[in-house]
Amino acid sequence: MYRRGTVIGIFSAKGGVGKTTTVVNLGMALAQKLRNRVLIVETNIMVSNLCLYFGITEPSVSIQDILTGKVRAENAVIKYEDKLDILPGATGFVKELGPLDLGRFIDPLRRRYDIILLDTAPGFGWDVWAGLRVCDEIVIVCQPEIPSVMGALQTFMMAEEWKIPVIGVVVNRVTNKKYELPISDIKKSLGDSTISVIPEDETIKESVAKGIPVVLSAPTSSSAVEFSRLARAILARIKGKKRARYGPRPRRSRRVT
Ligand SMILES: Nc1ncnc2c1ncn2[C@@H]1O[C@H](COP(=O)(O)OP(=O)(O)O)[C@@H](O)[C@H]1O
Ligand SMILES: [Mg+2]
Repeated sequence: MYRRGTVIGIFSAKGGVGKTTTVVNLGMALAQKLRNRVLIVETNIMVSNLCLYFGITEPSVSIQDILTGKVRAENAVIKYEDKLDILPGATGFVKELGPLDLGRFIDPLRRRYDIILLDTAPGFGWDVWAGLRVCDEIVIVCQPEIPSVMGALQTFMMAEEWKIPVIGVVVNRVTNKKYELPISDIKKSLGDSTISVIPEDETIKESVAKGIPVVLSAPTSSSAVEFSRLARAILARIKGKKRARYGPRPRRSRRVT
């Protein structure tokens, strides 16, 4: 029986919209500010680049090594910060692995972490299905552009098909320029599910260049503040669900002497 750490996947049908940026900064904010034990897992098997956002160019062991049976999952985990661990992917992987069962190694890891975040591949290929299958809930990322919002809609449909709850949508790289899709229109298209609006922010590009999450390298930047707010909202939701499932925490009775 596994202790049920929550597995949350960050998805978008379209590539380059900010999935990895969201995973990295949400994970860091959850771990650092909110003192949770967090694991971030690369599930984009063919184009793994999560580790680069942490300044790690070539991890010595990777998720591909776990999937091919070379190492056990717990031996591939990298300690990044006090409460944040990373399961990285190999950056130059070129083999075809075929259908995967990610649950085989992710489910046992639930015992060790409060929250496990999955960085995922774009599209709807086999690695996306494999990731989705192990998620308790998902977050959808999109940009304020029609193709991206259409992709988000498709991801909603995919989640519905698999009966996986959607926590909400993160709209990333918002500039409020007049050609951009307004948030009100995105809310209309996606059923008022927007939970975070991340501004276009140069400090994110700087943080990628440095290989340090923006919530660490520039905690007062506009994007970092929003990622921290998103982390608080997600944590409140997880706590709320646990409370609904198990009831309120029992109060300590006062000792009568
Ligand atoms: N809010 C933002 N402001 C500025 N640049 C951003 C923002 N979010 C992401 N980026 C840039 O976009 C690039 C692609 O984002 P990424 O998170 O890798 O997308 P995905 O994982 O969906 O492919 C990043 O390398 C980063 O430089
Ligand atoms: Mg990515």
